[in-house]
Amino acid sequence: MRTLLLLTATAGLLLSGCSRDYTPAANATGEDIFKGACLECHEAIEGKEAIFYEITSADRNAEFFANKISSGSLIMPKFPNITGDSLKAVSQYAFEHSIDK
Ligand code: HEC
Repeated sequence: MRTLLLLTATAGLLLSGCSRDYTPAANATGEDIFKGACLECHEAIEGKEAIFYEITSADRNAEFFANKISSGSLIMPKFPNITGDSLKAVSQYAFEHSIDK
């Protein structure tokens, strides 16, 4: 029974992608949010201080980052509690710390 429960939970996680309940403080800056929610998986590109992403130039805008944060992907969790000004701030921060691929 326990094994079955565990299997069901695991399958659920894999199918839906996962979701993080990180909630930014009201006065958090984009940098604060990035450090709290993203840095764990997205470190600076080796040899490029404070550059976290290399994105195809057609995609490289704050909206692309915001969509990624809200929707996640198969592997990346989505962040349903990062919304409004917080979403704008962290999207802008991630965008400003990215370069064209
Ligand atoms: C648990 C690990 C994890 C966390 C936390 C995480 N990501 Fe991701 N993210 C990934 C993985 C893995 C990928 C690559 C696969 C993909 O594109 O979905 C990715 C991809 C991305 C991409 C697309 C990069 C590209 O080259 O197309 C962006 C943008 C991004 N993440 C932004 C963020 C931001 C901003 C946060 C914080 C709000 C965040 N991620 C938090 C794991 C994570």
